[in-house]
Amino acid sequence: MREVVSSPPVVRSQRVESQWQQTVIVRAGRSPPDLGSLKLYRRLLHYTHQPTQHLLTNLYGSSTRTNRLCISINLANRISTSVENTTEQQTKKFSIGPNITNPFPFASIVIKINVIYSSSSPIIQSPNPNPITQIMNSRIPLSFVFFFTLLIHPSISKSPSLSLSSNPLTKSNNTVTIKWSGVDSPSQLDWLGIYTPPNSSLHHYIGYLYLNTSSTWESGSGSFTIPLINLRSKYKIRIFRWTDSEIVPNRRDHDNNPLPQPNHLLAETEEFQFEKVHAPDQIHLALTGEEGEMRVMFVSGHGKESVVRYGLGPGRMDQVVKTLVGRYEREDMCDSPANHSVGWRDPGFIHDGVMINLQPGRRYFYKVGSDSEGFSKTFSFVSPNNNSGETIAFLYGDMGTATPYNTYVRTQDESISTMKWIARDIEALGDKPALISHIGDISYARGYSWLWDHFFNQIEPLASQVPYHVCIGNHEYDWPMQPWKPDWAMYVYARDGGGECGIPYSYKFNMPGNSSESTGTRAPATRNLYYSFNFGVVHFVYLSTETNFLKGSKQYEFLKKDLESVDRVKTPFVVVQGHRPMYTTSNEVRDRPILEKMLEHLEPLLVNNKVNLALWGHVHRYERFCPINNFTCGSGPVHVVIGMAGQDWQPIWEPRPNHLYDPIFPQPAHSLYRGGEFGYTKLIANKERLTFTYIGNHDGEAHDVVEILASGEVINGESTKIVPNEGMQIADPRGKVGKASVLWYVQGGGVLLFCLLIGYFLGLMSRKKKEGVPNKEWTPVKTEEA
Ligand SMILES: [Fe+2]
Repeated sequence: MREVVSSPPVVRSQRVESQWQQTVIVRAGRSPPDLGSLKLYRRLLHYTHQPTQHLLTNLYGSSTRTNRLCISINLANRISTSVENTTEQQTKKFSIGPNITNPFPFASIVIKINVIYSSSSPIIQSPNPNPITQIMNSRIPLSFVFFFTLLIHPSISKSPSLSLSSNPLTKSNNTVTIKWSGVDSPSQLDWLGIYTPPNSSLHHYIGYLYLNTSSTWESGSGSFTIPLINLRSKYKIRIFRWTDSEIVPNRRDHDNNPLPQPNHLLAETEEFQFEKVHAPDQIHLALTGEEGEMRVMFVSGHGKESVVRYGLGPGRMDQVVKTLVGRYEREDMCDSPANHSVGWRDPGFIHDGVMINLQPGRRYFYKVGSDSEGFSKTFSFVSPNNNSGETIAFLYGDMGTATPYNTYVRTQDESISTMKWIARDIEALGDKPALISHIGDISYARGYSWLWDHFFNQIEPLASQVPYHVCIGNHEYDWPMQPWKPDWAMYVYARDGGGECGIPYSYKFNMPGNSSESTGTRAPATRNLYYSFNFGVVHFVYLSTETNFLKGSKQYEFLKKDLESVDRVKTPFVVVQGHRPMYTTSNEVRDRPILEKMLEHLEPLLVNNKVNLALWGHVHRYERFCPINNFTCGSGPVHVVIGMAGQDWQPIWEPRPNHLYDPIFPQPAHSLYRGGEFGYTKLIANKERLTFTYIGNHDGEAHDVVEILASGEVINGESTKIVPNEGMQIADPRGKVGKASVLWYVQGGGVLLFCLLIGYFLGLMSRKKKEGVPNKEWTPVKTEEA
């Protein structure tokens, strides 16, 4: 193992712009699974997995100043620190060596990487540079470090072969084994491309893997066993060679890594496909808003008449309903890559059927399909029971999907763990009905259509047994010509949807209500924007932060009327959900204008109608606030950001307004819990009490709990406790600094305040111990299996 040792750097007055931390666990005898790469862009740090044992960093400096980056790598408690200067258009990278292997026979080791990006500061000197630091400081050109092996192996002298083996491909996620041999002088850049349909342009693979991720690649042979999904078309696998001199500057992935080029075909397989290539797939349920009903949607490769057969036993599926069939076309999409051949693939036919006359609280069995094209396997669900006096729901945002290969955009490996733990919880429920709520940024397909297919295959084990509800996020909709783009939101709405402009979202889901907005193009209207339903003792409301919600808008009128008409005897609790947060202490500055408008227009509706819980996504973290109204703790909904289900880009917290240059991001008074761990939340309610729990993916355990009583009282809301930091000031993201009411208490009630402060500090210590995150820092934890 390469030793990585040096003294800490000397750091003088610097302005910290961003920081990033990553923990990677390396099992005994293994090399790091994939340390990944870093990219600095618009003063924010991004992280992504890469199929390489190198840690690569691409640094992009500002055009107006010199930026500095301090990188430390803690490998088995030996710390390596390096400092980089970056200027305009300058790119640097480094490697910590391709062969770092955990030498211990049984124990795992942990690599911790910490990166701090700063600007306008003196150069930071590392007193004792190590080999890695020397590499970094040597300013070796990008192409040398990454591609040096090509210089050793420049030629190809014999014909390689590529073969494929698998059991019959009967269902998505069946695996295939791809073997290659005879690759002469293997190169780090040899790669494997996955093509469907087979006649796609060689540049338009759906995914790729570098052969060097096989343990035997250096021998010229190796294999991958990967799951594939049924994309209703044939597949073909090819392997290629290319060189660093063949990089195409404008063909880069989402993280700015060069996309592999199909310059030299080495070998290819025969075409192959799933046995029942048109069979029903991607089954998922949803409530219709009417009692006694359950919607089921699925995709097929044909548009023929299909049905849903259902009943109270697997042998009693004697009720039958037909499905409606729809599809969208490439011309419906608004922009590239969604309407370009790189991102477009035939989405198949989308079937939509509603099972009716369901008895409440009973387990129903069902299957979908047709006699001519075949049926799915049999699934089951428990029908909702609004008289049960109980509600169970699993809620999160920004989950995305995982793929067994690299593709043009970053995918979300952590979504696997999120699904795994929720599956555990649903299984434990037995015959109790439950609900899943995914509040925007759903698949992160962003115009690459097969990622939607991956997403629905990934959620099918859960979404086929509990209703799966969504609201729209920026990554489903955002595009430059979207109809509602007021001046104040000029920089809020951009190109995050990859040209989809809400079309796949509108077709692949069918949520209750009939909300819709015209796209302004030939594309059908966007639907599933805002709606509500009762589920047990909770009234759930879903909003669209991507379309007009201001006073006078259709959405505002819907929300006002809906909240004012809730029967709090039937549903003592009201939960409102949307994608972009109304409260956050992250530094998501781009979204500040929309946050301000939400506070101005929507918060009064939530407060006046005694909404209990307001859930938001978009920020990929968990953060719970006190019961709050206009930045004042004590009354109002409990706001919680729950965007931690899978997407791994994570913003930092905002600095204190009077300590902009302090590289510490303290927790403001109104933010009661901030977590950097991936996970999800669970809501359990009866007529008296709603319990909301944050569950972390690394251990599947509860990490934060808040309870809300039907009376409105919040337990663990800490509404009477004020954090005494910096003169008792509460940071207001609108740029104001409000005096916390504790100052009044200080003046008026000394002894009482003293007791409160003691209680607060005890609570703070307890919470920090629970978080395991000392000194108010955050540490994202990635589970090894993901
Ligand atoms: Fe988002």
